[in-house]
Amino acid sequence: MTRRRVAILISGRGSNMAALIAAAQAADYPAEIALVLANRPDAKGLAAARDARLTTAIVDHTRFGKDREAFERAVQAELEAQAIDIVCLAGFMRLLTPWFVSRWEGRLLNIHPALLPAFKGLDTHEHALAAGVKIHGATVHFVVPEMDSGPVIAQGALAVRDDDTAETLAARVQAVERRLVPEAIRLFAEGRLTIDGRRVRIRHT
Ligand code: GRF
Repeated sequence: MTRRRVAILISGRGSNMAALIAAAQAADYPAEIALVLANRPDAKGLAAARDARLTTAIVDHTRFGKDREAFERAVQAELEAQAIDIVCLAGFMRLLTPWFVSRWEGRLLNIHPALLPAFKGLDTHEHALAAGVKIHGATVHFVVPEMDSGPVIAQGALAVRDDDTAETLAARVQAVERRLVPEAIRLFAEGRLTIDGRRVRIRHT
């Protein structure tokens, strides 16, 4: 089995990254974590990646000022240096330009803490509570230039409780994310996903 080479892009804590690292330790997992890249030198997840003896890189976006493409060219160079097949955005808090997204079309995944297309953008748990929805959750999707709008690969739902706060909701949604991300990368790495317009079809063998 040739394992697909995954890069995980992070900005912070990296709990989804950690879930993916753990999943990839299984002998039959079809992907390996070939690179963890952070856009912030202080991203907490970097320490966990180093502890797991993974290759890490920092491309500090503040060095590039407003030039998003220059930042992305530096990211691209790191990805190419590691011969990356799949890029997983896991709490990566930079919007990517069409330049970058088009280079990785169909190979770039994101995890979003809401049931898309509801609650795009930031502060999803606050928005879900304000809207009074009874069901909330997380989505893994392919990235397209428009934010939080690409074809959905996997979703996990949970019930909103009367006494939920944004914090309690976030904790349960993150547990869903930690299950969904390794599963979505597995399906993709096994070549079982086909993008058909807005739909992602999953071949069950
Ligand atoms: C997750 O909730 C993810 O959905 C969102 O940012 C958070 C990142 O958490 N995009 P972590 O860095 O993986 O712990």
